[in-house]
Amino acid sequence: MKLWQGRFSTPLSADADAFNQSLSFDKKLYKADITASIAHCTMLGLCGILSKVDSETIRSGLASILVDIEEGVLEIEGQEDIHSFVENELVARIGETGKRLHTARSRNDQVATDFRLYVRASAQQMVTLLKDLIATLTDIGTKHVKNIMPGYTHLRKAQPINCAQYFNAYAEMFLRDAHRFLDALKRIDVMPLGSGALAGTSYPIDRNITQHILGFERLSENSLDAVSDRDFVAEYLFDCSLVMAHLSRLCEDTILYSSTEFGFWEMPDSYSTGSSIMPQKKNPDISELVRGKTGRVYGHLMAILTTIKGVPLAYNKDFQEDKEGLFDAEKTTKDCIAIYTAMLKEIKLNVKRMEIAAAEDFTTATDVADYLAKRGVPFRTAHGIVGKIVRYCLEKDKTLESMSLAEYKAHSEVFDEDVLKVVKASASANSRNSIGGSSVAAAKAGIKSLRSRLKKLPTFEEYN
Ligand code: ARG
Repeated sequence: MKLWQGRFSTPLSADADAFNQSLSFDKKLYKADITASIAHCTMLGLCGILSKVDSETIRSGLASILVDIEEGVLEIEGQEDIHSFVENELVARIGETGKRLHTARSRNDQVATDFRLYVRASAQQMVTLLKDLIATLTDIGTKHVKNIMPGYTHLRKAQPINCAQYFNAYAEMFLRDAHRFLDALKRIDVMPLGSGALAGTSYPIDRNITQHILGFERLSENSLDAVSDRDFVAEYLFDCSLVMAHLSRLCEDTILYSSTEFGFWEMPDSYSTGSSIMPQKKNPDISELVRGKTGRVYGHLMAILTTIKGVPLAYNKDFQEDKEGLFDAEKTTKDCIAIYTAMLKEIKLNVKRMEIAAAEDFTTATDVADYLAKRGVPFRTAHGIVGKIVRYCLEKDKTLESMSLAEYKAHSEVFDEDVLKVVKASASANSRNSIGGSSVAAAKAGIKSLRSRLKKLPTFEEYN
């Protein structure tokens, strides 16, 4: 039976019913819906809007529904949406009293409240997952804080960098992502319940009681806005999108660095796949899939932005479209963070290969230019001299390390014996001791700072 059947002479046609329903996906909100209904009913009882007995009867009815759903005894099916399902089930269990639950409430403020409860818990879970990923990255860095690798710009070797500094860079991105979810929580954690269909309610409700029970940080302050605000969905989806953007960059590095052309990382067999025709292949499917799934999360962000565009005040059924995209983006993002964290725990770094690669292709040319500049040659002039040295090396098939002092001196009298130390890749990386730089000390400080900021992130109770 529809909650709104009274006004209609015929039932909804089967096709319209199937098209209109949201139960197939909003059943995910069952716990939030029952939790919010129990809070609402408690408040109605405390405010004398429902008798104490009715309030108590409804609450225990709702609690029994929750238990039965969780135990798999009660199947969620056969109704328009989760709100109709819970209310009809309540009436089936406790009779007429159940029909009093919807006093001073509309499905419009109800669904907004349920969804916010759900998204609040989900954002908290994202923070927890990101914490594990960040900790994993800093652990790898700690293990390899003395190792170097080539750093790239334009995907061309640029300067030697510290391995820990590399992993710290991704840890910084994911820490920003965690903070972004925490920041979004300020706007997610707002309670719309008590806004009614759109205009508020004439019952003497106390919204603070419900807010307190549900643990919402704030109350919505305008009922029209409250029932039609889906900004928090867009914001959550943007935060997921940026996590995926960062993961997709790490995927790209993983795919490149684990190729034989680079040979920097060895991916675990347990997270690699093979080819049905080419027996030799070891493919990075996990990284490719995570990179690929970035597109669908972006898609959900674009979808909600488009859905909320131009919708008149206040609630419109368009907003029912807010859920499926969020559920899919949520699952995708969580799965991707979790699988990447697990995979990273198993990667092996080929430190020898990275060290050799870090020294190839004139990666210390900047150090030679800096050498001259520190001895009084204007940097731009020094840059030109070293450019010519590189050209000379290419012609003579030499490296900056294999050049003799005489050859250096032929390019500038300023060169001395100690230039041969400067051109070593490890010395180059270790000389960049600026905050956040590639020296061992700076990389260690980077790990320390990340870990202390990680510790400051809140720990959340499991959603109840
Ligand atoms: N399934 C609906 C949604 O997700 C619930 C709210 C229905 N409200 C209404 N006025 N028809 O938005």
